[in-house]
Amino acid sequence: AEVVVVADQDAAGALVAGAIVSLIRSKPDAVLGLATGSTPLATYRALAARIASDGLDVRGVRGFALDEYVGLPAGHPESYRAVITREVVEPLGLTPELVRVPNGDPAGIEHAGADYEAAITTAGGIDLQILGIGRTGHIGFNEPGSSLASLTRVKTLTEPTRVDNARFFDSPDEVPMHCITQGIGTILRARHLVLLAFGEAKAHAVAAAVEGPVSANQPGSAIQLHPHTTVIVDESAASQLD
Ligand code: F6R
Repeated sequence: AEVVVVADQDAAGALVAGAIVSLIRSKPDAVLGLATGSTPLATYRALAARIASDGLDVRGVRGFALDEYVGLPAGHPESYRAVITREVVEPLGLTPELVRVPNGDPAGIEHAGADYEAAITTAGGIDLQILGIGRTGHIGFNEPGSSLASLTRVKTLTEPTRVDNARFFDSPDEVPMHCITQGIGTILRARHLVLLAFGEAKAHAVAAAVEGPVSANQPGSAIQLHPHTTVIVDESAASQLD
């Protein structure tokens, strides 16, 4: 992977926004892979600003979120559907019907993964996939032990991930036990992976992803199997790289 060390999250956001703007200029119906969580927020902010200042027409841009919680009440503000609407679709001015999130409704969950895979295939695949990484090394919600060939499916969240994500909920008990996530195999099919990580807490996961052995125990290490990956980190997240 190409590793770029930047001063801060805003510098990373500007870089990624620039890459996405170029992509949309050459392909107005580009397909973006969208991460949630804190890491990509500076990118979405920078992208919204660039779209506005450049007057870029993004009405044809399509999107696929990485993952969703299973079983949150419909319309819950921390469902990734709600987060993607609030942080991405609205500020960027995307067309809501063109941005998909895996369906975390327990009714019909048994075919939600296959439906999502089919939708990505029908869209012609993801052009640029934005990724964060968890302390545990997860990408999407593919926790350690996930098959490197896995496709979109239901997974159980690990305890450290539930604890990390409790900050978005009123109480830790409210964090769902399950999620539906693009698999590592799904992620690897995207044409360009952009993995972002900031802060000391991510340093181990970043080093394992970039330099460690490729292993299902460090899902982030799957990026080494991809021919076009850009890793953008700040100094702290880069601190355990050789
Ligand atoms: C989010 C996702 C996760 C996060 C990761 C880091 O859609 O799939 O892999 O990217 O948990 O989360 P933050 O960015 O909140 O530190």
